Amino acid sequence: MATQTLPNAAGIIGAAVPRIDGPLKTTGVARYSLDHDFPGLVHAVAVQSTIGKGSIRSLDPGAAEKMPGVIAVLHRANLKNVYRTIPRQQDGSMAESRAPFQDDKITYWGQYIAVVVAETLEQAKAAAGAVHVEYDRETPDVRSDLSLGFSGNRESSWKRGDPDQALSTAPVVLDEVYVTPIETHNPMEMHGTVAVWDGDNVTIYDSSQGVVGFRTVMAEVLGVPHENVRVISRFIGSGFGGKLSAWPQATLAAAAARQLNRPVKISVDRRMMFSNVGHRPRTQQRIRLGATSDGKLTAIRHDFYTETSELDDFVEHCGEQTPFLYSCPNLEVTTAMVRRNVGAPAPMRGPGAVPGLFALESAINELAIKLNMDPLEFRLKNDAERDEGKNLPFSSRHLKECYLTGAEKIGWKNRTPGVGSMKRDGKVIGWGMGGASWSAARVPCTASVELCANGRVCVRCATQDIGTGTYTLFAQVVHAKTGVPLDRIDVFLGDTNLPDGPTSGGSMVTSAILPASTYATDQAVDRLLHIAALTPGSPFHGAHPESLAVADGRVIAKVQPKVVGAAYHAGEDLTANGLPFEDVLKLANISGISATGRTFPSFEDPKAKQYSLHSFGCHFAEVEWEPEIARLRVSRIFSVFDAGRIINKKSGANQILGAAVMGVSMTLFEDTVHDPRTAQPINGNFADYLVTTCADLPDLDVTFLDYPDLIVNEYGARGIGEIGMAGVAPAITAAVYHATGVRVRELPIRIEDLLQSKVLEA
Ligand code: MOS
Repeated sequence: MATQTLPNAAGIIGAAVPRIDGPLKTTGVARYSLDHDFPGLVHAVAVQSTIGKGSIRSLDPGAAEKMPGVIAVLHRANLKNVYRTIPRQQDGSMAESRAPFQDDKITYWGQYIAVVVAETLEQAKAAAGAVHVEYDRETPDVRSDLSLGFSGNRESSWKRGDPDQALSTAPVVLDEVYVTPIETHNPMEMHGTVAVWDGDNVTIYDSSQGVVGFRTVMAEVLGVPHENVRVISRFIGSGFGGKLSAWPQATLAAAAARQLNRPVKISVDRRMMFSNVGHRPRTQQRIRLGATSDGKLTAIRHDFYTETSELDDFVEHCGEQTPFLYSCPNLEVTTAMVRRNVGAPAPMRGPGAVPGLFALESAINELAIKLNMDPLEFRLKNDAERDEGKNLPFSSRHLKECYLTGAEKIGWKNRTPGVGSMKRDGKVIGWGMGGASWSAARVPCTASVELCANGRVCVRCATQDIGTGTYTLFAQVVHAKTGVPLDRIDVFLGDTNLPDGPTSGGSMVTSAILPASTYATDQAVDRLLHIAALTPGSPFHGAHPESLAVADGRVIAKVQPKVVGAAYHAGEDLTANGLPFEDVLKLANISGISATGRTFPSFEDPKAKQYSLHSFGCHFAEVEWEPEIARLRVSRIFSVFDAGRIINKKSGANQILGAAVMGVSMTLFEDTVHDPRTAQPINGNFADYLVTTCADLPDLDVTFLDYPDLIVNEYGARGIGEIGMAGVAPAITAAVYHATGVRVRELPIRIEDLLQSKVLEA
């Protein structure tokens, strides 16, 4: 009796697997939210406030109502049955807690004050422009200096030791302020909603990063039972965090559709993206560091301001990474929230960490220069062995190896630290580095796997794929466990009718879906093997299910059984070929075997709670500086990440590449500018709001250390959606200093800053 090695499909975990939904997107088959159309569908266009602060004195829809195709103009006086959401609840929120049209108050430019519904989009747009509004104006506050107008108390967190005392006695002190501007999410696909009622039930197609929470919110704002709401978000042209919560246009579409008894479509155009659906708030961060003269950190103070809107509290948690990135006995982080007349802020890729680490990592780079130390050496010397903020060991931290690997990649040992001292091809080059971290967790998830009699496998989970590769990850797990080829695995996501799955946020989907999909597949396979053994007529009839397995999509005998069951065909080698799983189902007259798996959250897991769970990484950036024409280009970025085991090297690397591109964008281009008179974002379009284009891109290189973190899940995978954006900006500004001698502490870097460079020729 020889044991036989099963065919190894498990190798697909960790491989570079192309996205299974790729062809649907590239051929235009994938339908995004606004691609949905229904008989009788009408178009809604929001009317926006043209002042930044004040109130509506009068709103006259008369002229608009008489225009061709107009069905209704809905506003404060006639929009019915719209409620506020419960503030700050865990399972979904409305990004703006104020319900649309709830009063006449205006708190930001572009606020929706009415909505026009018409037969065509053009008719609705034209009529929206004809709604006559008079205002009582007040002066909006969009001042960029966030220390102005702050009247509350600073909130202190993570305090340990006595940082003020340590700073007053430290031989070397750094004290600088770092500023990041308002950055606006600009995914390719803008927000939009289609709402269709069928009696008391509503189906909402929205470009949402979290359909399950969205359903909760819509049930509340519409005042209908949870069960009556279905939210669908099958394909998303990315979100970057701007689509985590529901926004008011969805309320307007669903309420208008109910009131008018017609399917309604509403879209947020590119200009509205800058005012109505969130942004990364401006931050102003003072960092004070104290060190011994031989370069050991003794004190960190991180005191920051974060901007929010007039009506909603949103904190960009800039100090989240500060307590554990470095070993330091004395530390405090304080937060001050400052109100401005802007729309509600929202999480944006790496919220808190990205601006926070721009400040902290820039300060570390500057302190190293003050100490006459290599910034790499400084980091190695001050690396934290355990999380000194939570006083817990890290589940898995290989940041030093990230630094050393990145240094090796760029050739850091050949770096000469003098400003303007490195040259190549007639250009000055500069090198800089920055560290990154992002938290990990295992959030709850439910998924089902069904082995179907037609030979296909269906996987179902309500979580969504925001372009990150989630569809493919589910299929990889099923393939690894069953050997069924990827083209026979159908993954269904982004629909509240499916088993509850997590919001696509916090870089936590991968670690959440792996346990659920694994258990579901294991369970389904287990049931299949029992059926194979129990079904008369099955070649495995009478075998012990534990002697069977699934490989290549077929039920096989792991070993040739000693006692052959009644139906075994004498002499047939079932270890070699077995029987396709669908044939087993047919023999048993079963249409499909379904099983559900659940992921147990790390915050309820006593073992996981004993660890600090984080991913780590770094970027090494190179810039080229042509002083004669003041031209700066980011030429190379080497990114090295310790994000646990990487499940899909292709989509994983894509995450870091895309994040590095966004990091370049943040450092060199992005800045939402508000007109102080009206509080209007004056560069709210793609001609004036600059983002990285292909021509701006450096050569990008991504390395994963690939150490499994088995505290997070049995695959050892953490998450990589957001971390890649952290650490890019401080690496680039350090490289810019190295090349030009100009230290930029307020992003983005402007040509005006660089004109002060004294490095005059290459
Ligand atoms: Mo991320 S900002 O949680 O989409």
